[in-house]
Amino acid sequence: MNLTVIGSGYVGLVSGACFSEFGFNVTCVDKDAAKIDSLNAGAIPIYEPGLDDLVARNMAAGRLKFQTELADSVADADAVFIAVGTPTRRGDGHADLSYVYAASEEIAAHLSGYTVIVTKSTVPVGTGRNVAAIIKKTNPDVDFDVASNPEFLREGSAINDFMRPDRVVVGVESDAARDVMAALYRPLNIRETPILFTTLETSELIKYAANAFLAVKISYINQMADLCEAVGADVHDVAKGMGLDQRIGAKFLHPGPGYGGSCFPKDTLALVKTAEDFGRDVTIVNDVVRYNAERKASMTDRVITAAGGDVDGKTIAILGLAFKPETDDMRDSPALDIIPRLMAAGAGISAYDPAAMEQARPLLPEGVSYCTSAAEAVSSADVTVIVTEWNEFRAMSPADMAGAMRGNVLVDLRNIYDPAAVMKAGLNLSNIGRSQQV
Ligand SMILES: NC(=O)c1ccc[n+]([C@@H]2O[C@H](COP(=O)([O-])OP(=O)(O)OC[C@H]3O[C@@H](n4cnc5c(N)ncnc54)[C@H](O)[C@@H]3O)[C@@H](O)[C@H]2O)c1
Repeated sequence: MNLTVIGSGYVGLVSGACFSEFGFNVTCVDKDAAKIDSLNAGAIPIYEPGLDDLVARNMAAGRLKFQTELADSVADADAVFIAVGTPTRRGDGHADLSYVYAASEEIAAHLSGYTVIVTKSTVPVGTGRNVAAIIKKTNPDVDFDVASNPEFLREGSAINDFMRPDRVVVGVESDAARDVMAALYRPLNIRETPILFTTLETSELIKYAANAFLAVKISYINQMADLCEAVGADVHDVAKGMGLDQRIGAKFLHPGPGYGGSCFPKDTLALVKTAEDFGRDVTIVNDVVRYNAERKASMTDRVITAAGGDVDGKTIAILGLAFKPETDDMRDSPALDIIPRLMAAGAGISAYDPAAMEQARPLLPEGVSYCTSAAEAVSSADVTVIVTEWNEFRAMSPADMAGAMRGNVLVDLRNIYDPAAVMKAGLNLSNIGRSQQV
């Protein structure tokens, strides 16, 4: 089968590469000519472990190609995936569907023969039907169906998540579309991956319901962490005690500075807006949106308090800029809240991230000093703040850190260090939900 993937970002590029690994002929299209040029030159424009090998192997086998024009590949395609961005619409919190609808119009003009148009982007309920209406209006004679196939991959483990998903969700309305989608995911049958066929609306809602649930779980443990600090309990033991209950599960019970990233912030907001549109309440999700914003903002106060109440003139080392490890994605990263607020309070910032420095630069204020290593960032710092839990930070010895720093304050927003080792190294530790033992 021939597939076209519109949008070669985190999702489009990974999906396209993985479908080509399954053996299909895939053309990945993107309007961003620089991205396509770099892919054709063998350079991967995002940081995603394993993606370079996967892309190179399938390009060499002639199953994967990259181009800015969609006309010829759409005409030959059995299925066209829309994997463009659906960011928050400026001003009102709804998902901005302009990229999805623009792509639909462009696709419509070039369709030929029966084709399934699949939304892989995260889109609100009703979008699939709107895509169908756009295609019908633009090209009334074309033979097509729409399908919804939300993507659940996580940046940092995207290839494994795509190749070994917990489930695949597909919204379809015709047997023909169902057959095409079943054929595309047949390679997963060997692992007995559940494939859930539903209606378009159900499939679209599953993605938001799942993401919002995870955001609720993270916020829940963050609130428990706050409570642990107040009552003198340890949030890790609380999480363990909760997570051993199989009805709850241990995942997503790690406390931190509040969720960020390309999905949870925008998807929780969009779900709230969908509920408003349909006259229903998702008050739990509303509260989580508010609480998470407050939490991210409050992390700066936590650093200032740990630094003795004032950071004016102090140098603060920030370790980790990306919203999570193993990605260079800066979208809604807690670092984007914390760093500008610390600078506004008079602090100087020495920052280091193993992958996201280039992405971070245009998003952070002038004056941040970007370092080439964690050791360089920490040297001469008054305060060190762990914002992202990259493994290379876990491996740093508190004693070495204490020796290199000018000051002795460590703010561990990811709880990656053993408090006893930090105390032994002579550092004052502020961490999350462990009733500040040091
Ligand atoms: N990033 C994730 O971890 C993740 C996971 C699951 C689902 N999603 C969803 O997948 C969708 C895509 O997310 P992403 O992170 O890959 O976005 P992204 O911003 O990394 O990539 C989107 C790409 O689409 C391109 N594009 C936009 N309009 C186009 C058009 N008309 N023709 C060709 N290319 C076009 C852009 O140039 C960009 O390269 C979103 O709806 C997102 O919510 C993302």
